[in-house]
Amino acid sequence: MSQNAIVNLDGQTFEFPTFVGTENEKAIDIAKLRDLTGYITYDPGFKNTGATKSAITFLDGEEGILRHCGYSIEELADKASFLEVAYLLLNGELPTQSQLDAFETAVKKYTVTNEALLKMEQVIPTSTHPMSELSALVGLMEGQYNPDETSENILRLIAALPILAAWNYKKSIGEAIVAPDQSLDYCSNFLKMMFAKPGEDYKVDPIVSKALNKLLILHADHEQNCSTSTVRLIGSSHASLFSSISGGILALFGPLHGGANQAVIEMLEEIKQAGGDTTKFIAMAKDKTSGFRLMGFGHRVYKNFDPRARIIKKAADNVLTALGVKDPVLTIAQELEAAALSDEYFVARKLYPNVDFYSGIIYRALDIPTNMFTILFAIGRLPGWISQHMEMMTNKDPIGRPRQIYVGSPERAFVDIAKR
Ligand code: SDX
Repeated sequence: MSQNAIVNLDGQTFEFPTFVGTENEKAIDIAKLRDLTGYITYDPGFKNTGATKSAITFLDGEEGILRHCGYSIEELADKASFLEVAYLLLNGELPTQSQLDAFETAVKKYTVTNEALLKMEQVIPTSTHPMSELSALVGLMEGQYNPDETSENILRLIAALPILAAWNYKKSIGEAIVAPDQSLDYCSNFLKMMFAKPGEDYKVDPIVSKALNKLLILHADHEQNCSTSTVRLIGSSHASLFSSISGGILALFGPLHGGANQAVIEMLEEIKQAGGDTTKFIAMAKDKTSGFRLMGFGHRVYKNFDPRARIIKKAADNVLTALGVKDPVLTIAQELEAAALSDEYFVARKLYPNVDFYSGIIYRALDIPTNMFTILFAIGRLPGWISQHMEMMTNKDPIGRPRQIYVGSPERAFVDIAKR
């Protein structure tokens, strides 16, 4: 039975409707708050603010639950392919075999080298971070295609990101690009474009392709995180899908967000160089004056284990063993996790490993360069960004424009420069 929220302000009583979502999440609808009361809410970082209603992803931070359209991340990571999950996010239902075949064929149709885009990529300096380059090229896709061809552009983007990422890598090692191979599945094609020598009859290791498939699924969507909210905000101005995704890539780049996967490996390497003693780094992480954070730890929503981190941690062991890779930073990561999870500072703040804590260890075992880890996150998150953008446009959400409380100078007269 729905109830109203009662707000008493300045001697008046106001009532605001509430509503409950599928999973019993509760909200107070304050759409008329300012008109009725003259007040706005104040919530830096939107920690308590729902920006929208969405039917795509549900996560319960207390219980460590993540579901896409009702399907658990554990089942999807274990049983689905990445394009199957992309189809689910874009359509709200798992595909039949014929639907999946058609979707894969459609993505392959657009898995081609865009020579004009390649020319632009080749003049971007190698000093540019791969995420900055990716964002720029995706933004430039707008000039290449008709922004109104929505369904084609969705396929163009899903097809393009692995190609653009591989171009960046080949440029960084001074090698010619390897053209997409439409005979291969999505992940295998990416690995071949990345690691095949030009003209080589390259054989993709199925262990590597399977691990990448799982990692991309684990990054596919995550409700209204920073980069997805950025995609929605840009899209709410009716800027194109390309522009919205280009902005989302840059939001993901930040070390507090997707950039953490690169920062985690850099932190683990630093601990290794310092002799592997995690106590000093735990102490720094607890010392506010140090400016140091335990990268890959903590989460805005998960106050329990990030379910993705659990899956990746298990996969890291399996993949490294299967590939015969011994990476000392895996042991350091495990020791760091154990130390943090037994330390009152982290326990009291419910800081657990998040999706970025172990992912870099697997990426490294797959020979992905550290500065490309976040690009892999972007390739995985792309279907989530697109589905959230589509939902926002379908629901005709209004342009996003938060309010503020002004705390600057009161009105004052202009002073001529000679008198200042
Ligand atoms: C992702 O939102 C999503 O869904 C994101 C994501 C997705 O799939 O899209 O899950 C992907 O971005 C994962 C997060 C990756 N980032 C990192 O690993 C960077 C390190 N973590 C933090 O900077 C932090 O935990 C955040 C940014 C993830 C969350 O920040 P919040 O929610 O704003 O929390 P906070 O900064 O207010 O921290 C609360 C307390 C503070 O201490 P007190 O002021 O209460 O004393 O916890 C402390 C913080 O100092 N804290 C940490 C810490 N994270 C939080 N202390 C040390 N090390 C950390 N990592």
